[in-house]
Amino acid sequence: MASPTDSRKHAADVDGRIAELLLAWYDVHHRELPWRTPPADLKRGIRPDPYRVWLSEIMLQQTTVEAVKPYFRAFLEKWPTVRSLADAEAEDVMKAWAGLGYYSRARNLKACAEQVVQLLGGRFPDSENGLRELPGIGPYTAAAIASIAFGRPAAVVDGNVERVVTRLFSIATPLPQAKVEIRAHVERMLAAARPGDFAQAMMDLGATICTPRRPRCMLCPLRDDCSAVAHGDPELYPVKPAKAEKPMRRGAAFVAVTPDGSVLLRKRPGKGLLGGMTEVPTTGWTSRIDGATGAASAPFPASWRRAGSIAHVFTHFSLDLEVYRAEVPPSAPPQGHFWSAAAALNGEALPTVMKKVIEAAIPGATKRTR
Ligand code: ADE
Repeated sequence: MASPTDSRKHAADVDGRIAELLLAWYDVHHRELPWRTPPADLKRGIRPDPYRVWLSEIMLQQTTVEAVKPYFRAFLEKWPTVRSLADAEAEDVMKAWAGLGYYSRARNLKACAEQVVQLLGGRFPDSENGLRELPGIGPYTAAAIASIAFGRPAAVVDGNVERVVTRLFSIATPLPQAKVEIRAHVERMLAAARPGDFAQAMMDLGATICTPRRPRCMLCPLRDDCSAVAHGDPELYPVKPAKAEKPMRRGAAFVAVTPDGSVLLRKRPGKGLLGGMTEVPTTGWTSRIDGATGAASAPFPASWRRAGSIAHVFTHFSLDLEVYRAEVPPSAPPQGHFWSAAAALNGEALPTVMKKVIEAAIPGATKRTR
């Protein structure tokens, strides 16, 4: 590892040159993404659509580029403008978001579109501070939208950028303490023109070359300036604190099916984990080892048979659910529940954990198309 004095001198030399090398690489090697305005178009004066930039950045919070692509396309097809999204039914937005996770993003998305239309005449603010006033837009997303949509020199620092910068300068301070130093480097580097392209070039470099494991340093436009490459140890960075293990929770889920394949569902409360999404009846999810996970804990009597179990990992805990299935005659649904016909299941606002549960009980049920 480099000494602190080594790395400070190296840093001062390198900051100025990086943007130029990185942008030249991005001109040739940028990823083609459905929300992106390519550098050649920007140079011809084509401006990015702030609605598309905003929508993509909200979807890309905690979600991979590959997972976002089909959702981004589907949203744009249904709601091509911020006005059309502001006018949409909240329930339809939740349904279109189902499977993408972190569902508070979908609620904030709708609230944000409404504010932009009702209070700002349908125009997104063009500064970081203005953007941060809006629901669902934190410091990172405000910086990303300000730079990509409006060409503002904002420092966009995500996990990719943290990896690139800690390697370039052999920053041995662990995250999150290293964030201040990383941000200072990014602010110095981005004094150059083309802030939006610079931010996206950093992301592309982190995603395709400066990867967490086995980085492809031979192909990197910054290799001659990279302190970690010079010391032969890029995979040491970024230094991360030891991870605490996730707590485990357990419960049981109950899939009641009528002879024509309708499934009993209910809506979760509007706030909190999976807020406003749809689920089958379940027990509480408890970390107690003696928590009830048997058929006796079903919300109503029926011939419950065990259909299997599923595991799902949330941000703050892992969940194991025992899945039970019962054939039941058609009847009025219990209070707060509703029947979803077999052909309608695929369009319900079912989070991934609930799709797993229903699939364990009725294979193929959530994949049928009307
Ligand atoms: N992750 C977050 N924002 C992104 C963007 N605009 N392009 C690629 N990956 C991203």
